[in-house]
Amino acid sequence: MEEQTTPSATPFVLGIETSCDETAAAIVDGSGTIHANVVFSQIEDHAPYGGVVPEIAARAHLDHLQPVIARTLEEAGLSFADLDAVAATGGPGLIGGVMVGTMTAKAIAMARGIPYLAINHLEAHALTARLTDRVAFPYLLLLVSGGHCQLIAVEGLGRYRRLGTTIDDAVGEAFDKTAKLLGMGYPGGPALESAAANGDPQRFDLPRPMVGKPGCDFSFSGLKTAVRQKIEALGKATDQDIADIAACFQEAVAGSLVNRCRNAIALFNADHGTGHALVVAGGVAANQRLCGALSDLADASGMSFTAPPIALCTDNAAMVAWAGVERLQAGESDPLSFAPRPRWPLDPDAPKAAGAGVKA
Ligand code: KG4
Ligand code: ZN
Repeated sequence: MEEQTTPSATPFVLGIETSCDETAAAIVDGSGTIHANVVFSQIEDHAPYGGVVPEIAARAHLDHLQPVIARTLEEAGLSFADLDAVAATGGPGLIGGVMVGTMTAKAIAMARGIPYLAINHLEAHALTARLTDRVAFPYLLLLVSGGHCQLIAVEGLGRYRRLGTTIDDAVGEAFDKTAKLLGMGYPGGPALESAAANGDPQRFDLPRPMVGKPGCDFSFSGLKTAVRQKIEALGKATDQDIADIAACFQEAVAGSLVNRCRNAIALFNADHGTGHALVVAGGVAANQRLCGALSDLADASGMSFTAPPIALCTDNAAMVAWAGVERLQAGESDPLSFAPRPRWPLDPDAPKAAGAGVKA
Protein backbone atom coordinates (compact mmCIF):
# COMPACT_ATOMS: atom_id res chain seq x y z
CA MET A 1 0.00 0.00 0.00
CA GLU A 2 1.13 3.56 -0.74
CA GLU A 3 0.29 6.62 1.31
CA GLN A 4 -2.05 9.05 -0.42
CA THR A 5 -1.07 12.58 0.62
CA THR A 6 -4.08 14.76 -0.19
CA PRO A 7 -7.30 12.77 -0.28
CA SER A 8 -10.28 14.87 -1.37
CA ALA A 9 -13.03 15.23 1.27
CA THR A 10 -15.70 13.96 -1.13
CA PRO A 11 -13.72 12.03 -3.72
CA PHE A 12 -15.43 10.66 -6.83
CA VAL A 13 -14.28 7.07 -7.29
CA LEU A 14 -14.77 4.93 -10.39
CA GLY A 15 -15.22 1.27 -9.44
CA ILE A 16 -14.66 -1.66 -11.83
CA GLU A 17 -15.81 -5.25 -11.24
CA THR A 18 -14.76 -8.10 -13.56
CA SER A 19 -13.99 -11.03 -11.25
CA CYS A 20 -16.76 -13.39 -12.41
CA ASP A 21 -19.51 -13.07 -15.02
CA GLU A 22 -20.63 -9.47 -14.50
CA THR A 23 -18.85 -6.64 -16.31
CA ALA A 24 -19.60 -3.65 -14.10
CA ALA A 25 -18.61 -0.05 -13.48
CA ALA A 26 -19.94 2.54 -11.04
CA ILE A 27 -19.16 5.97 -9.65
CA VAL A 28 -19.62 6.59 -5.92
CA ASP A 29 -18.59 9.70 -4.02
CA GLY A 30 -17.24 10.16 -0.51
CA SER A 31 -20.70 10.75 0.94
CA GLY A 32 -21.90 7.37 -0.36
CA THR A 33 -23.97 8.78 -3.22
CA ILE A 34 -24.07 6.36 -6.17
CA HIS A 35 -23.90 8.52 -9.32
CA ALA A 36 -24.11 5.58 -11.73
CA ASN A 37 -24.08 1.80 -11.37
CA VAL A 38 -23.95 -0.18 -14.61
CA VAL A 39 -23.90 -3.98 -14.66
CA PHE A 40 -23.63 -5.98 -17.87
CA SER A 41 -24.49 -9.59 -17.09
CA GLN A 42 -22.86 -12.29 -19.23
CA ILE A 43 -25.45 -14.87 -18.13
CA GLU A 44 -26.57 -15.54 -21.72
CA ASP A 45 -22.98 -16.26 -22.80
CA HIS A 46 -22.53 -18.90 -20.07
CA ALA A 47 -26.06 -20.36 -19.80
CA PRO A 48 -25.54 -23.04 -22.51
CA TYR A 49 -22.67 -24.47 -20.41
CA GLY A 50 -24.59 -24.51 -17.08
CA GLY A 51 -21.93 -22.41 -15.36
CA VAL A 52 -19.32 -19.70 -15.87
CA VAL A 53 -16.64 -20.58 -18.45
CA PRO A 54 -13.47 -18.63 -17.50
CA GLU A 55 -12.17 -18.15 -21.05
CA ILE A 56 -15.54 -16.90 -22.30
CA ALA A 57 -15.82 -14.58 -19.28
CA ALA A 58 -12.38 -13.03 -19.87
CA ARG A 59 -13.12 -12.35 -23.55
CA ALA A 60 -16.56 -10.92 -22.73
CA HIS A 61 -15.02 -8.53 -20.15
CA LEU A 62 -12.60 -7.41 -22.87
CA ASP A 63 -15.53 -6.73 -25.23
CA HIS A 64 -17.82 -5.01 -22.73
CA LEU A 65 -15.75 -3.15 -20.14
CA GLN A 66 -14.98 -0.04 -22.21
CA PRO A 67 -18.62 0.55 -23.28
CA VAL A 68 -19.79 -0.13 -19.71
CA ILE A 69 -17.38 2.52 -18.36
CA ALA A 70 -18.45 4.98 -21.08
CA ARG A 71 -22.11 4.45 -20.12
CA THR A 72 -21.28 4.88 -16.43
CA LEU A 73 -19.64 8.26 -17.05
CA GLU A 74 -22.53 9.31 -19.27
CA GLU A 75 -25.21 8.31 -16.72
CA ALA A 76 -23.31 10.13 -13.97
CA GLY A 77 -22.86 13.19 -16.19
CA LEU A 78 -19.14 13.10 -15.45
CA SER A 79 -15.91 12.81 -17.44
CA PHE A 80 -12.58 11.12 -16.65
CA ALA A 81 -11.34 14.54 -15.51
CA ASP A 82 -13.90 14.51 -12.64
CA LEU A 83 -12.55 11.28 -11.13
CA ASP A 84 -10.40 11.41 -7.99
CA ALA A 85 -9.44 7.73 -7.98
CA VAL A 86 -10.10 4.44 -9.73
CA ALA A 87 -10.71 1.19 -7.86
CA ALA A 88 -10.91 -2.25 -9.46
CA THR A 89 -11.42 -5.74 -8.09
CA GLY A 90 -7.89 -7.19 -7.86
CA GLY A 91 -9.05 -10.64 -6.73
CA PRO A 92 -10.10 -13.21 -5.70
CA GLY A 93 -11.78 -14.41 -8.87
CA LEU A 94 -11.31 -15.73 -12.38
CA ILE A 95 -7.88 -14.41 -13.26
CA GLY A 96 -8.56 -13.50 -16.91
CA GLY A 97 -11.37 -11.14 -15.95
CA VAL A 98 -9.48 -9.69 -12.98
CA MET A 99 -6.57 -8.88 -15.32
CA VAL A 100 -8.87 -7.06 -17.76
CA GLY A 101 -10.34 -4.89 -14.97
CA THR A 102 -6.98 -4.30 -13.31
CA MET A 103 -5.22 -3.18 -16.50
CA THR A 104 -8.10 -0.89 -17.45
CA ALA A 105 -8.07 0.74 -14.00
CA LYS A 106 -4.30 1.16 -14.05
CA ALA A 107 -4.43 2.74 -17.52
CA ILE A 108 -7.05 5.29 -16.40
CA ALA A 109 -5.11 6.03 -13.18
CA MET A 110 -1.86 6.48 -15.11
CA ALA A 111 -3.39 8.67 -17.84
CA ARG A 112 -5.20 10.90 -15.33
CA GLY A 113 -2.50 10.86 -12.64
CA ILE A 114 -4.98 9.73 -9.97
CA PRO A 115 -4.68 7.02 -7.29
CA TYR A 116 -5.36 3.38 -8.14
CA LEU A 117 -6.84 0.98 -5.61
CA ALA A 118 -6.81 -2.82 -5.93
CA ILE A 119 -9.93 -3.99 -4.10
CA ASN A 120 -10.48 -7.39 -2.55
CA HIS A 121 -13.87 -8.53 -3.94
CA LEU A 122 -14.77 -9.99 -0.54
CA GLU A 123 -13.95 -6.71 1.19
CA ALA A 124 -16.25 -4.96 -1.30
CA HIS A 125 -19.12 -7.30 -0.36
CA ALA A 126 -18.19 -6.90 3.33
CA LEU A 127 -18.37 -3.08 3.29
CA THR A 128 -21.59 -2.79 1.23
CA ALA A 129 -23.75 -2.46 4.36
CA ARG A 130 -21.78 0.69 5.23
CA LEU A 131 -22.58 2.15 1.80
CA THR A 132 -26.29 1.31 2.05
CA ASP A 133 -27.01 1.56 5.79
CA ARG A 134 -23.98 3.23 7.41
CA VAL A 135 -23.52 0.17 9.65
CA ALA A 136 -20.85 0.92 12.27
CA PHE A 137 -17.85 -1.33 12.99
CA PRO A 138 -17.73 -3.96 14.43
CA TYR A 139 -20.38 -6.20 12.85
CA LEU A 140 -20.85 -9.86 12.06
CA LEU A 141 -20.98 -10.63 8.34
CA LEU A 142 -22.43 -13.69 6.64
CA LEU A 143 -21.00 -13.62 3.12
CA VAL A 144 -22.94 -15.98 0.88
CA SER A 145 -22.33 -16.01 -2.87
CA GLY A 146 -21.63 -18.40 -5.73
CA GLY A 147 -17.96 -18.62 -4.80
CA HIS A 148 -17.91 -17.88 -1.08
CA CYS A 149 -19.58 -18.89 2.15
CA GLN A 150 -17.97 -17.32 5.19
CA LEU A 151 -18.74 -15.82 8.58
CA ILE A 152 -16.52 -12.83 9.26
CA ALA A 153 -16.13 -10.47 12.19
CA VAL A 154 -15.69 -7.09 10.45
CA GLU A 155 -13.77 -5.24 13.14
CA GLY A 156 -12.67 -2.19 11.11
CA LEU A 157 -11.43 -1.23 7.66
CA GLY A 158 -8.88 -3.90 6.70
CA ARG A 159 -9.53 -5.81 9.95
CA TYR A 160 -11.42 -9.01 9.18
CA ARG A 161 -11.48 -12.16 11.29
CA ARG A 162 -12.87 -15.26 9.64
CA LEU A 163 -14.95 -17.32 12.08
CA GLY A 164 -16.09 -19.97 9.62
CA THR A 165 -15.95 -21.08 6.00
CA THR A 166 -17.23 -23.93 3.83
CA ILE A 167 -15.48 -27.25 3.76
CA ASP A 168 -16.87 -28.05 0.29
CA ASP A 169 -19.38 -26.03 -1.79
CA ALA A 170 -20.29 -22.37 -1.36
CA VAL A 171 -23.99 -21.93 -0.64
CA GLY A 172 -24.72 -20.23 -4.00
CA GLU A 173 -22.94 -23.11 -5.72
CA ALA A 174 -25.20 -25.51 -3.79
CA PHE A 175 -28.27 -23.58 -5.01
CA ASP A 176 -26.96 -23.64 -8.59
CA LYS A 177 -26.08 -27.36 -8.57
CA THR A 178 -29.36 -28.34 -6.91
CA ALA A 179 -31.31 -26.20 -9.38
CA LYS A 180 -29.49 -27.99 -12.21
CA LEU A 181 -30.50 -31.38 -10.74
CA LEU A 182 -34.09 -30.08 -10.73
CA GLY A 183 -33.81 -29.16 -14.42
CA MET A 184 -33.60 -25.39 -13.92
CA GLY A 185 -31.31 -23.08 -15.89
CA TYR A 186 -28.24 -21.16 -14.72
CA PRO A 187 -27.99 -19.31 -12.35
CA GLY A 188 -30.21 -21.57 -10.31
CA GLY A 189 -30.66 -19.60 -7.08
CA PRO A 190 -33.44 -17.26 -8.23
CA ALA A 191 -35.22 -20.05 -10.17
CA LEU A 192 -35.06 -22.38 -7.17
CA GLU A 193 -36.45 -19.69 -4.87
CA SER A 194 -39.46 -19.03 -7.12
CA ALA A 195 -40.15 -22.78 -7.49
CA ALA A 196 -39.93 -23.16 -3.69
CA ALA A 197 -42.67 -20.55 -3.24
CA ASN A 198 -45.22 -23.14 -4.49
CA GLY A 199 -43.70 -26.07 -2.59
CA ASP A 200 -44.29 -27.89 0.70
CA PRO A 201 -41.19 -27.39 2.88
CA GLN A 202 -42.21 -30.38 5.08
CA ARG A 203 -42.65 -33.06 2.43
CA PHE A 204 -39.12 -34.46 2.21
CA ASP A 205 -36.76 -35.18 5.04
CA LEU A 206 -33.42 -33.61 4.02
CA PRO A 207 -30.31 -33.32 6.23
CA ARG A 208 -29.56 -29.96 7.91
CA PRO A 209 -25.78 -29.84 7.24
CA MET A 210 -23.49 -29.22 10.25
CA VAL A 211 -26.42 -28.47 12.59
CA GLY A 212 -25.42 -29.30 16.16
CA LYS A 213 -21.70 -29.41 15.36
CA PRO A 214 -19.46 -26.95 17.20
CA GLY A 215 -17.84 -24.04 15.31
CA CYS A 216 -19.05 -22.00 12.36
CA ASP A 217 -17.97 -23.98 9.29
CA PHE A 218 -20.40 -24.92 6.52
CA SER A 219 -20.91 -27.96 4.29
CA PHE A 220 -23.42 -28.41 1.48
CA SER A 221 -22.25 -31.33 -0.64
CA GLY A 222 -24.14 -33.93 1.46
CA LEU A 223 -27.37 -31.98 1.08
CA LYS A 224 -26.93 -31.88 -2.70
CA THR A 225 -26.38 -35.67 -2.74
CA ALA A 226 -29.52 -36.18 -0.62
CA VAL A 227 -31.51 -34.11 -3.14
CA ARG A 228 -30.14 -36.22 -6.00
CA GLN A 229 -31.25 -39.39 -4.22
CA LYS A 230 -34.77 -38.01 -3.65
CA ILE A 231 -35.03 -37.11 -7.35
CA GLU A 232 -33.85 -40.58 -8.42
CA ALA A 233 -36.32 -42.22 -6.03
CA LEU A 234 -39.19 -40.20 -7.52
CA GLY A 235 -38.48 -41.41 -11.06
CA LYS A 236 -40.37 -38.89 -13.20
CA ALA A 237 -40.76 -35.77 -11.05
CA THR A 238 -43.85 -33.59 -11.51
CA ASP A 239 -43.76 -29.79 -11.24
CA GLN A 240 -45.19 -30.17 -7.74
CA ASP A 241 -42.44 -32.67 -6.77
CA ILE A 242 -39.83 -30.19 -7.99
CA ALA A 243 -41.42 -27.31 -6.08
CA ASP A 244 -41.56 -29.46 -2.92
CA ILE A 245 -37.90 -30.50 -3.21
CA ALA A 246 -36.90 -26.88 -3.84
CA ALA A 247 -38.83 -25.75 -0.73
CA CYS A 248 -37.27 -28.53 1.40
CA PHE A 249 -33.77 -27.71 0.11
CA GLN A 250 -34.22 -24.01 0.87
CA GLU A 251 -35.50 -24.87 4.36
CA ALA A 252 -32.49 -27.13 5.02
CA VAL A 253 -30.08 -24.40 3.88
CA ALA A 254 -31.85 -21.83 6.08
CA GLY A 255 -31.64 -24.21 9.06
CA SER A 256 -27.95 -24.78 8.47
CA LEU A 257 -27.10 -21.08 8.00
CA VAL A 258 -29.06 -20.07 11.11
CA ASN A 259 -27.32 -22.72 13.20
CA ARG A 260 -23.83 -21.66 12.04
CA CYS A 261 -24.69 -17.96 12.55
CA ARG A 262 -25.92 -18.68 16.08
CA ASN A 263 -22.52 -20.16 16.95
CA ALA A 264 -20.76 -17.21 15.29
CA ILE A 265 -22.87 -14.71 17.25
CA ALA A 266 -21.71 -16.33 20.50
CA LEU A 267 -18.05 -16.05 19.43
CA PHE A 268 -18.50 -12.50 18.11
CA ASN A 269 -20.32 -11.29 21.25
CA ALA A 270 -17.61 -12.79 23.48
CA ASP A 271 -15.11 -10.44 21.77
CA HIS A 272 -17.24 -7.38 21.07
CA GLY A 273 -20.19 -7.46 23.46
CA THR A 274 -23.87 -7.52 22.49
CA GLY A 275 -26.01 -5.15 20.44
CA HIS A 276 -24.07 -5.04 17.17
CA ALA A 277 -25.35 -5.79 13.66
CA LEU A 278 -25.74 -9.04 11.74
CA VAL A 279 -25.14 -8.28 8.07
CA VAL A 280 -25.71 -10.57 5.11
CA ALA A 281 -24.00 -9.94 1.75
CA GLY A 282 -23.35 -11.72 -1.54
CA GLY A 283 -25.77 -12.94 -4.21
CA VAL A 284 -27.55 -15.48 -1.99
CA ALA A 285 -28.65 -12.60 0.27
CA ALA A 286 -31.27 -11.98 -2.43
CA ASN A 287 -33.13 -15.04 -1.06
CA GLN A 288 -36.11 -13.81 0.96
CA ARG A 289 -36.59 -17.04 2.95
CA LEU A 290 -32.96 -16.97 4.11
CA CYS A 291 -33.13 -13.28 4.96
CA GLY A 292 -36.33 -13.88 6.95
CA ALA A 293 -34.68 -16.65 8.98
CA LEU A 294 -31.57 -14.54 9.61
CA SER A 295 -33.63 -11.52 10.59
CA ASP A 296 -35.52 -13.65 13.16
CA LEU A 297 -32.20 -14.90 14.53
CA ALA A 298 -30.86 -11.34 14.82
CA ASP A 299 -34.05 -10.28 16.67
CA ALA A 300 -33.74 -13.18 19.09
CA SER A 301 -30.07 -12.31 19.65
CA GLY A 302 -30.60 -8.59 20.30
CA MET A 303 -28.84 -7.61 17.06
CA SER A 304 -29.97 -5.37 14.24
CA PHE A 305 -30.17 -7.02 10.81
CA THR A 306 -29.03 -5.53 7.52
CA ALA A 307 -29.39 -7.01 4.05
CA PRO A 308 -28.42 -4.55 1.29
CA PRO A 309 -30.83 -4.21 -1.67
CA ILE A 310 -30.58 -7.10 -4.13
CA ALA A 311 -28.81 -5.05 -6.82
CA LEU A 312 -26.01 -4.33 -4.36
CA CYS A 313 -25.90 -7.92 -3.01
CA THR A 314 -25.16 -9.58 -6.34
CA ASP A 315 -21.88 -8.61 -8.02
CA ASN A 316 -21.70 -4.92 -8.88
CA ALA A 317 -19.11 -2.15 -9.07
CA ALA A 318 -20.75 0.30 -6.63
CA MET A 319 -19.46 -1.90 -3.80
CA VAL A 320 -15.98 -1.82 -5.36
CA ALA A 321 -16.07 1.97 -5.73
CA TRP A 322 -17.27 2.29 -2.11
CA ALA A 323 -14.44 0.09 -0.78
CA GLY A 324 -12.17 2.40 -2.80
CA VAL A 325 -13.76 5.46 -1.15
CA GLU A 326 -13.24 4.00 2.33
CA ARG A 327 -9.62 3.07 1.66
CA LEU A 328 -8.87 6.38 -0.06
CA GLN A 329 -10.33 8.30 2.87
CA ALA A 330 -8.10 6.23 5.16
CA GLY A 331 -5.13 7.56 3.16
CA GLU A 332 -4.47 4.38 1.18
CA SER A 333 -3.83 3.54 -2.46
CA ASP A 334 -1.95 0.79 -4.32
CA PRO A 335 1.07 0.83 -6.60
CA LEU A 336 0.59 0.26 -10.33
CA SER A 337 2.79 -2.82 -9.90
CA PHE A 338 -0.09 -4.60 -8.07
CA ALA A 339 -0.45 -8.17 -9.42
CA PRO A 340 -4.00 -9.62 -9.72
CA ARG A 341 -4.69 -12.37 -7.19
CA PRO A 342 -6.81 -15.43 -8.09
CA ARG A 343 -6.88 -16.24 -4.34
CA TRP A 344 -6.97 -13.45 -1.79
CA PRO A 345 -8.31 -14.44 1.64
CA LEU A 346 -9.72 -11.58 3.71
CA ASP A 347 -8.19 -13.09 6.81
CA PRO A 348 -4.91 -14.81 5.85
CA ASP A 349 -4.39 -15.94 9.45
CA ALA A 350 -7.71 -17.80 9.70
CA PRO A 351 -7.40 -21.39 10.87
CA LYS A 352 -8.13 -23.96 8.16
CA ALA A 353 -11.61 -25.50 8.29
CA ALA A 354 -11.76 -29.24 8.89
CA GLY A 355 -12.12 -31.10 5.59
CA ALA A 356 -10.87 -30.97 2.05
CA GLY A 357 -11.34 -28.34 -0.61
CA VAL A 358 -11.51 -25.30 1.67
CA LYS A 359 -11.98 -22.10 -0.30
CA ALA A 360 -10.05 -18.86 0.32
O1 KG4 B 1 -22.39 -12.48 -5.35
P1 KG4 B 1 -22.78 -13.12 -6.64
O2 KG4 B 1 -23.54 -12.28 -7.64
O3 KG4 B 1 -21.53 -13.67 -7.39
C1 KG4 B 1 -20.47 -14.32 -6.74
O4 KG4 B 1 -19.53 -13.62 -6.29
O5 KG4 B 1 -20.58 -15.56 -6.67
O6 KG4 B 1 -23.64 -14.43 -6.28
C2 KG4 B 1 -24.20 -15.25 -7.27
C3 KG4 B 1 -24.83 -16.45 -6.58
C4 KG4 B 1 -25.29 -17.53 -7.54
O7 KG4 B 1 -24.85 -18.78 -7.05
C5 KG4 B 1 -26.81 -17.42 -7.50
O8 KG4 B 1 -27.49 -18.65 -7.76
C6 KG4 B 1 -27.03 -16.97 -6.06
O9 KG4 B 1 -25.99 -16.03 -5.82
N1 KG4 B 1 -28.35 -16.35 -5.91
C7 KG4 B 1 -29.34 -16.86 -5.14
C8 KG4 B 1 -30.46 -16.02 -5.33
N2 KG4 B 1 -30.10 -15.01 -6.18
C9 KG4 B 1 -28.80 -15.24 -6.53
N3 KG4 B 1 -29.38 -17.94 -4.36
C10 KG4 B 1 -30.54 -18.21 -3.71
N4 KG4 B 1 -31.66 -17.45 -3.84
C11 KG4 B 1 -31.68 -16.36 -4.63
N5 KG4 B 1 -32.77 -15.62 -4.75
ZN1 ZN C 1 -19.39 -11.66 -5.34
